[in-house]
Amino acid sequence: MRIHILSLFPGMFSGPFDESIVKRAVDRGLVEIALYNIRDYTLDKHHVVDDYPFGGGQGMVLKPEPIFAAVESIRGERATPVILLTPQGRLFDRVVAEDLATYDEMILICGRYEGVDERVREHLVTDELSIGDYVLSGGELAAMVVVDAVVRQLPGALGAEEAVSEDSHANGLLEYPQYTRPRAFRGWEAPEVLLSGNHAQIEKWRKEQSILRTLKRRPDLLERVDLPPDKRMILERIRKGDC
Ligand code: 6GU
Repeated sequence: MRIHILSLFPGMFSGPFDESIVKRAVDRGLVEIALYNIRDYTLDKHHVVDDYPFGGGQGMVLKPEPIFAAVESIRGERATPVILLTPQGRLFDRVVAEDLATYDEMILICGRYEGVDERVREHLVTDELSIGDYVLSGGELAAMVVVDAVVRQLPGALGAEEAVSEDSHANGLLEYPQYTRPRAFRGWEAPEVLLSGNHAQIEKWRKEQSILRTLKRRPDLLERVDLPPDKRMILERIRKGDC
């Protein structure tokens, strides 16, 4: 996979992409991340990237020319998806992350200031994503979130100890509670069943906990998820008050 990121602040990406799973995926050759400074694609001598909004008003608007020039020089004749990170985009979630993980190339544009010239949206961008209903100072942090969530889906990105299948959201539910040593900490005991060695019981407990937790914290997720029959039965029992 190749991910191209256009930003006015490419230096922001050095910390997050130089550690942990993303770095390892890059080192393993699973993904190539290329950063571009939008300012490098300006043609005027002062390298101006933004200007006052037509019609007046607060703030500045990113000019279209450098963004078009950057995207066109990156993609050449390829039909590469061009994704704008903006609070006006559709909400980024697990399903979108899984879909993006099937792409072999994408261009992410990080918006800034009061916005980008609408012609970028109308004639260049193929998708717009937001990571939640709050305003960030720019699309950079959102792009990091998207890259992390997508890269960890790539086959071989996670080690054996980082299995993806039971993580919160991986199967549409929140994860069950986890415990490790010591067995008793300040008098708080880990649940007996987890120490029982009875794998069938442990699995049943975890499924119940996962569903209980999702029901309590994120009932909206249960509306959308297609539960396998065993979990559907647990949910019905919980709803009847049996668990
Ligand atoms: Cl993608 N950009 C900005 N500026 N703010 C956001 C966002 C994106 N997603 C949520 N808030």
